Amino acid sequence: MTQAANTKLNGKVALVTGGSRGIGAAIAARLASEGAAVAITYSSSSEQADKVVAAIRANGGRAMAIRADAQDADAVRLAVNTTAAELGSLDILVNNAGALAAGHIADFSMDDYQKLIAVNVTAVFVAIQEAQHHMKAGGRIITIGSVNSDYVPVPGLSVYALTKGAVASFTRGLARDLGPQGITVNNIQPGPVDTEMNPANGAFADTMRSYMATGQYGTGIQIASLVAYLASEEAAFITGANLKADGGFDA
Ligand SMILES: NC(=O)c1ccc[n+]([C@@H]2O[C@H](COP(=O)([O-])OP(=O)(O)OC[C@H]3O[C@@H](n4cnc5c(N)ncnc54)[C@H](OP(=O)(O)O)[C@@H]3O)[C@@H](O)[C@H]2O)c1
Repeated sequence: MTQAANTKLNGKVALVTGGSRGIGAAIAARLASEGAAVAITYSSSSEQADKVVAAIRANGGRAMAIRADAQDADAVRLAVNTTAAELGSLDILVNNAGALAAGHIADFSMDDYQKLIAVNVTAVFVAIQEAQHHMKAGGRIITIGSVNSDYVPVPGLSVYALTKGAVASFTRGLARDLGPQGITVNNIQPGPVDTEMNPANGAFADTMRSYMATGQYGTGIQIASLVAYLASEEAAFITGANLKADGGFDA
């Protein structure tokens, strides 16, 4: 898609956390292709973050990358404020950065537990709290949760499911808090999507496919298209929603 193909997000500024790879990189590219200026965060993959930014700029868009480990609340706050300061405002926040650690409850480590809570829950709270100060009516907050919020068909995903359940509930309450300000808050709950976190040729992929109506992994581009819709003015009536995009994982 070229920069001129769709201009629904012209003049908007978006921050996509964890935008250097996977689903987040696809979201950043899609929002930029619709005209938004886009900041992305990452914690370690600076080369990949630079490539995402370069690709957006090559298409005539505005983009920047910010190193901000989601485990560091101050870094997350700074990333939100830097986006608003450098790009002029903040209209769309996409909480995409996420961590996965799998293990049976019997021996799940406290370190992994705290990391998943920090990245998947606390960073989302911090980013939203900071971002809403900058947002005007029409603001959009979109979190990337997981189908595992509601469906956990295999052992070992309990803590990951806990964190994704937390952001689903958080979404409902936030819609009530921020609705009066004209800001919508929604949560997309993907099923298996082919990324480094969950490769379609990985050890668990055939098991995952067996739970899906389509039998096919999704793509970051498919998730990004739903983000772009929720970010648009057309989606003003959708808030507090937990929306599955999961190939029928929950059918
Ligand atoms: N793939 C799936 O099947 C699937 C399904 C349902 C939900 N999800 C959710 O979708 C989101 C994106 O997942 P993905 O599959 O695209 O994952 P991914 O391929 O592992 O990419 C994760 C992205 O988040 C960034 N990130 C990770 N930890 C971070 C941290 N502590 N601070 C800042 N950035 C961080 C990574 O950059 P760095 O490496 O630089 O940190 C990268 O840009 C996550 O919230 C995940 O839980 C994924």
